[in-house]
Amino acid sequence: MSLTKLAVLVSGRGSILEAIVDDGVAVSLVLADRPCRGLEIAAAAGIPTLLLTRRSYGATFDRQAYSQEVVAALQTHGIDLVAMAGFMTILAEPVFTQYDGRIINTHPSLLPLFRGEHAVKDTLAAGATESGCTIHIATLALDDGPILAQATVPVLRDDTVASLHERIKQVERQVYPRTIRALMTKRGEQ
Ligand code: GRF
Repeated sequence: MSLTKLAVLVSGRGSILEAIVDDGVAVSLVLADRPCRGLEIAAAAGIPTLLLTRRSYGATFDRQAYSQEVVAALQTHGIDLVAMAGFMTILAEPVFTQYDGRIINTHPSLLPLFRGEHAVKDTLAAGATESGCTIHIATLALDDGPILAQATVPVLRDDTVASLHERIKQVERQVYPRTIRALMTKRGEQ
């Protein structure tokens, strides 16, 4: 099956999205769950954008309904590959059923170590001497699923969460575009 229509899901600064765009990977849609710089980067690059605002957090958030909204939007745009790049909403089953094996994520740790939202903080707290990023197929289980690529960086003695995260992002900006491109090319050849 040919994978040609890529959506990137963002929530924040969007520097990983920026690297994907700068690398020349064709992005067909950028979807965000909140207003963010990632949407501005997409708009400036002439990429269609979609803001599906997440209206609630905590117990009142209907994760299932929101995930169905995301799937419907992706389907409307004919998306066949989804790359999460700092997307901060945990998605539910409808997304993983529709995009089984075709939704990927980049995470700022060497999985299976330090899953979750505070991966960089937890890496420092554990006294690890090395960290990095993991690109993986996303599954219903958080920060799990088959690993596609990893890259390591050193943890320095005086690192803060910000300094270590930025060092990790430097490698994510290289490895993620490369991995996405390989996936699109490989699947396209089948
Ligand atoms: C990346 O480190 C990614 O692994 C994590 O969120 C960060 C996104 O950074 N899930 P940015 O918004 O692209 O700068």
